[in-house]
Amino acid sequence: MYPLRLASLSLATLLSVVSPLVHAAPTDEGRLLAYTCTACHGQHGQKTAPGMPVIGGRDAHELLAAMARFRTGKRWHPAMNVMMLSLDEAAMVDIAEYFAQIDPALLHRPGPYGVAR
Ligand code: HEC
Repeated sequence: MYPLRLASLSLATLLSVVSPLVHAAPTDEGRLLAYTCTACHGQHGQKTAPGMPVIGGRDAHELLAAMARFRTGKRWHPAMNVMMLSLDEAAMVDIAEYFAQIDPALLHRPGPYGVAR
């Protein structure tokens, strides 16, 4: 369906909704939902291909800000825009928390395409 309607919320509004929801400890929900990200980002959010950013072991708010930029269309990458549109705010927070708590030692394991950081 074109044009893709990227956002019903502005970036600032979305961030003001999701940022305060970050919990001290990640939920199981995040681990389960992160499954949808692993085909590209690897099981631990490690570098899976040249040019692919590492998302494991990073600050949850920083990850959420990047995710919100894709969700609102401020940052453009077709796969990421669609991925973020498929998530509600609570799911975004759960997933960001999951990747944030990844042990950095795991980031050196190769991803599905064999590229390690
Ligand atoms: C189809 C492949 C694909 C899937 C599935 C995918 N991503 Fe991505 N993601 C990418 C690519 C490629 C980039 C880099 C885009 C760019 O910089 O243009 C990216 C970038 C990101 C970034 C920005 C990191 C940075 O430092 O700039 C975050 C955060 C992210 N993805 C989170 C997720 C999450 C969370 C999921 C699952 C809900 C997910 N991605 C699913 C391919 C994917």
